Amino acid sequence: MIETNALRHLMTPMDFSVDELERLFDKADDIALHPAQYAHICEGRILATCFYEPSTRTRLSFETAMLRLGGQVIGFADASSSSASKGESVADTIRVVSCFADICAMRHPKEGAAMVAAARSGIPVINAGDGGHEHPTQTLTDLLTIRSLHGSLSDFTIGLCGDLKFGRTVHSLIHALIRYKGIRFVFISPPELRVPDYITEMLRNKNIPFEEVIRLDDVIPDLDLLYMTRVQRERFFNEEDYVRLKDFYILDKEKLSRARESMYILHPLPRVNEIAVDVDNDPRAAYFRQVQYGLFVRMSLILTLLDLTDDHINHGLLKWQSP
Ligand code: NCD
Repeated sequence: MIETNALRHLMTPMDFSVDELERLFDKADDIALHPAQYAHICEGRILATCFYEPSTRTRLSFETAMLRLGGQVIGFADASSSSASKGESVADTIRVVSCFADICAMRHPKEGAAMVAAARSGIPVINAGDGGHEHPTQTLTDLLTIRSLHGSLSDFTIGLCGDLKFGRTVHSLIHALIRYKGIRFVFISPPELRVPDYITEMLRNKNIPFEEVIRLDDVIPDLDLLYMTRVQRERFFNEEDYVRLKDFYILDKEKLSRARESMYILHPLPRVNEIAVDVDNDPRAAYFRQVQYGLFVRMSLILTLLDLTDDHINHGLLKWQSP
């Protein structure tokens, strides 16, 4: 966790201890149950979304989270509409944004950009995705989804399938999961898109069980959770390789018939072709529910980083109830 002048930022999911994550998820659950109690807690606060790379879900999820907490939102949705197009550095942009907003969510195509911003920022910075590196709030979303559907964050076999090389959500999720007990990883990818060596080395050093396979069909019956990902076109060096690999995995009804009835399918979205649309109605398809969990966990995260405690909640509730 980077802390500057007692500010807390979120750069990787490891910035929170397991206990802190439990509290964050408990609060997210409470928000889901009692949204009205949180509807005014961020009144007068502003979230800036600084997105230098395309996004639908993550940006809208952050903005909705702040609006549902009673706060307001400013920002830009692509670099061409910001001063970055005039050559402004991320470090300068965040110093300017710190004069306007109380908290900032930043997405950038360069690995480490959010870290550079946090070091110069006067407000909490949330890494909303930095290149192929990390995507911690997707991981918080994934963990809350698993905790809610599987019932706990321990004792399961998770298959991660697709682009394990460039998929930042995969990298962040693996890092976050190794702190829980009884987890076995099955990495399913074409050889060209294997999970990076630094991750498999880390798992070996920690004696965490994992296997790497190419065929989804062979392993699908063993999985408690299947985390599908899209092939990350924008991070490929040439289009031919992308075209060759893009439809390597397509999860359809027939493939799914080999999976356990209790297996859940997760996907950070956007989906391209890797999950057939006819899977969406299967009760095991959890990827749209995952989006809903993402909203609650981002609301909880904003409250945590702004250090808004239960006293503020009660205060907000009283204010809301009185005419
Ligand atoms: C992911 C991302 O941006 O890395 N999307 C998201 O934020 N949910 C996954 C992806 O783009 O494939």
